[in-house]
Amino acid sequence: MNTWAIRQVAEKIKASTRVVVLTGAGISQESGVPTFRGADGLWKNFRAEDLATPEAFDRDPLLVWQWYDWRRSLIKLLKPNAGHYALVELEKKAEDFTLITQNVDGLHKAAGSRNPIEMHGTLWRVRCLQCKKSFENKEVPIQIPPKCTTCGGLLRPDVVWFGEALDEKILHAIYTCLQRVEVMLIVGTSAIVQPAASFGLVAKRAGAFVTELNRSRTAQSSLFDCSIQGKAGELLPQLVEHIGP
Ligand code: OAD
Repeated sequence: MNTWAIRQVAEKIKASTRVVVLTGAGISQESGVPTFRGADGLWKNFRAEDLATPEAFDRDPLLVWQWYDWRRSLIKLLKPNAGHYALVELEKKAEDFTLITQNVDGLHKAAGSRNPIEMHGTLWRVRCLQCKKSFENKEVPIQIPPKCTTCGGLLRPDVVWFGEALDEKILHAIYTCLQRVEVMLIVGTSAIVQPAASFGLVAKRAGAFVTELNRSRTAQSSLFDCSIQGKAGELLPQLVEHIGP
C-alpha cells in the first residue's frame, strides 16, 4: 500500500518543478528529539504557559532559561537521521525547492539543507531584549541568565513563543511559495498549531498535490490528496529512491 502511494508521489515530484516540504517534530523523533504531543511529548510533562510564552519569561527568566538549556544540552548530542538527509537529496533533485520547518532543533541545517525556513526560530540563536540584536549562540551549558555582549541586556531564546507573531517577511515568503507550489509534502506534524496547520490547505486550494507523511493519521489526513503512514526516516528515503537520479 505504502509502496504504491510513495511511487505515485515520486511520479508527481518528477513531473513538477516546484516542491515545498513542511516539517514538524516528527521528523526529528528518530534522532531522539522529544515531540510535543506524543506519548513522551514535551507538553505532556511541561506546561507551555510556564515555559514558552513571553509572560513566562517576564515572570521567571531563570526557569525558562533552565528549560531551554536542558533542551539545547539534549539536542547538541543528537544527529540528523535518514529523513533529514533524504530531504537534502530531494533538494538537489527539485528545480525549485523550499523547506519550511516548525522545528527549532537545527537538525535540517546540520544535515546539509541549504536554506530551511525556520519559522519558529532556532534554539541556537539568542536575542537581546534591550538592543534587539540577535546572535548565534551554541554554548552548552549556557551561562544563566545570559547577557548581551554589546549592551549587557538580558538575552532570550530567538524562538517564537505562544502568543507571539511570526516574522512578517518569513510569512510573506511562505505564502508566496504556497501559491506557486506544485507538490507539497507535510512531514511529522500534528497540524494543530497555526499558522503552519493551514499551509497544506492553502497549497491545496492553490492547486498543489499535497501529501502527508506521518506515523499516525491526523485531523487533516482526509483533506489531502495522499496520506501515508509510517516513519519519516523510512518513508522519505524510499520516496527519494523512487524519484531516482
Ligand atoms: P507535535 O508533537 O504536535 O506532532 C508531532 C507529529 O509527528 C505527530 O503527528 C506524530 O504522529 C508525528 N510523528 C512522530 N514520530 C514520527 C516519525 N518518526 N515519523 C513521522 N511522523 C512522526 O509536533 P509539531 O506538529 O511539530 O511550537 O508541533 C507544532 C508546534 O507545536 C511546534 O513547532 C511547537 C509546538 O508547541 C512552538 O513552540 C511555537
